[in-house]
Amino acid sequence: MKIDSRFLSRIRKQFPAVEATPSGRKRAFLDNGAGTLVTKRAADREYDARIDWSANVGNHFTESIGAEERIMEGRSAVADLLNAEGPGAIISGESATSLMFSLSYALGREFAGSENVVTTGYEHYTNINPWVELGSYGEIKELRFAEFDKDSGKLDPSGIQEMIDSNTKVVTVTGASNVLGTRTALVEVGKIARDAGAFYIIDAVHHVPHELTDVRRIGCDFLIFSGYKLFSRHGSFMYAKPEHIRKLTPYRVHSAPKRGPGKWEWGTRDQAMFAAITGAVDYLAWVGNPSAKRPPKEGKQRRTRLAMAFKAIERYEKELMEIALHGKGKVPGLNDIPGLQLYGPPDIDKKTGRDPTFSFKLRGYEDRPLSKVLWDKYRLALGAEDFFSRVPALYNKKTMLRATFVHYNSRAEVLSLLSALDYLARKKK
Ligand SMILES: Cc1ncc(COP(=O)(O)O)c(C=O)c1O
Repeated sequence: MKIDSRFLSRIRKQFPAVEATPSGRKRAFLDNGAGTLVTKRAADREYDARIDWSANVGNHFTESIGAEERIMEGRSAVADLLNAEGPGAIISGESATSLMFSLSYALGREFAGSENVVTTGYEHYTNINPWVELGSYGEIKELRFAEFDKDSGKLDPSGIQEMIDSNTKVVTVTGASNVLGTRTALVEVGKIARDAGAFYIIDAVHHVPHELTDVRRIGCDFLIFSGYKLFSRHGSFMYAKPEHIRKLTPYRVHSAPKRGPGKWEWGTRDQAMFAAITGAVDYLAWVGNPSAKRPPKEGKQRRTRLAMAFKAIERYEKELMEIALHGKGKVPGLNDIPGLQLYGPPDIDKKTGRDPTFSFKLRGYEDRPLSKVLWDKYRLALGAEDFFSRVPALYNKKTMLRATFVHYNSRAEVLSLLSALDYLARKKK
């Protein structure tokens, strides 16, 4: 499967808001790192669940049974997406941040206070503050950062190895930096974590729309992502190795389930959130085989289609990244626009690849006003802030501008960003 211009226009039809705002204003949506657009399948499934299956679970009447089914379907869809052992390994939560906090509380109970947690230098604060909090309550001794190389934006896994000692009990890393686009070598880091006998946690929120996730290949104990970064709505999911679901003791209220994912879930499930993620996963499976007559069966067949989808997505996003970094024809890339400082890898790493996330500053412009000009004059939607990451501060910057592409973006949208930035850069020369 290849995402050529014909297939791309079919893909874009799956996203009703891809071309224009609700008021009909044409624009290029490049703020995908802050939350992608929602695919129609996810929105339709959510609507059905909200209206038809709005009851609570556990009763004999139709709506209650239907709600339970939507939840099971959602767990199963996420299990296929992540290659988990089964739907019982998928826990839901309000956000990735809330899941990371609840996971840290559960792990904190296992520690005596002398332990340390190792992470990367380019984390989102979601994967920092929960561990800082554990430290402030004396449940761990310290949080250690393996710093990346600021020139290349890359992190050698040996940097993580160096941080580890016999007191390291958690290695927790992002799949990719949500500012730099740098990918973490997840399989390699997994081996390091296992050799250290540490819990291995992945914050996959930023990375999940860009590469096929495989929790068993990565060898992680926990992995967290959010639906709104994967063409669905808000609400998040955590994979946990079944043995951890059983043995660990998360905070829970008295009448909540004592086993299974329900043991880890706080409050009442939202069947509409599960229905929406099922729609998003089915959309991705469709990308893997758009001519299939029927949606795939749960399990192996759906996983195979997802693998095909991500193969096509990775290939296409690589093309977009080549254009973004190096330009095309007379349009210069981010590496060549005068006065533009790109933060993050200037190339696509041969081993790990790269996520199509590009943070930058343009000489002569403040970030927020520049993002307004890009919106007002060029109809380019992208954000300027710190993106809840410690990365801007490491470069002594409060904010940066960020464009994140996903597979529904077109080559023309990448080029229009580059042309606008090149024009604005030359105006200031
Ligand atoms: C890498 C990363 N982790 C965590 C989060 C936070 O996710 P949530 O809003 O679901 O808590 C984000 C959101 O931008 C992110 O990019």
